[in-house]
Amino acid sequence: MIDRVQFLNELKVHGIKNNIPNISLQNACFLRGILRKKKVKKLLEIGSANGYSTIHFACELEKTWWNITSIEFSQLAYEEAQDNFKKAEVSDIIESYFWDARDIVPHLQETYDFVFIDGLKKRSKDFLQLVWDKVEDGWIIVIDDVIKFRHKMEDLYIYVDEQKLTYNILPTDEDDGIMMIIK
Ligand SMILES: C[S@@+](CC[C@H](N)C(=O)[O-])C[C@H]1O[C@@H](n2cnc3c(N)ncnc32)[C@H](O)[C@@H]1O
Repeated sequence: MIDRVQFLNELKVHGIKNNIPNISLQNACFLRGILRKKKVKKLLEIGSANGYSTIHFACELEKTWWNITSIEFSQLAYEEAQDNFKKAEVSDIIESYFWDARDIVPHLQETYDFVFIDGLKKRSKDFLQLVWDKVEDGWIIVIDDVIKFRHKMEDLYIYVDEQKLTYNILPTDEDDGIMMIIK
């Protein structure tokens, strides 16, 4: 069996060298803690990139045989992710779509108990609106990079306040953090 910790470390280094905006290890560990604690079963990710965050999540969900849906619209990134899922031996529990999330999400038939939004930052509010009906009541939506890229997401901040959504901003990294919304 592959050493996933080593594989993920190498993938992170590769990401840094190649300017792939993967989540930080701290953020990945934090999110994995939530998946474990809340016993998340069905996870949707917008923005797989080369699969670094997806593989972290898969390491948690495989323990309970549940699954992940991940969407990526860059062909190069999508193909790299497929390759990495195979290497990390997690392909079986990941349903991957090479698609624009804005077009595919409305057609997804499932509902999810955890959604990770990590696509184009200026579209974060649109992604939130898009996934809302796909999330079970009481469950979780996480939006990444909401501190560093707040200037690209002012409409998101206005929207969550207008809609009186229950959310927290959590500083998961030295210079950045996530928005966690409980539906
Ligand atoms: C920040 S990276 C994702 C990093 C990844 N979650 C990780 O931590 O390893 C954002 C990715 O979202 C993809 N993306 C942006 N907008 C998208 C959309 N509308 N549909 C699908 N993918 C999108 C980009 O091509 C890019 O690869």
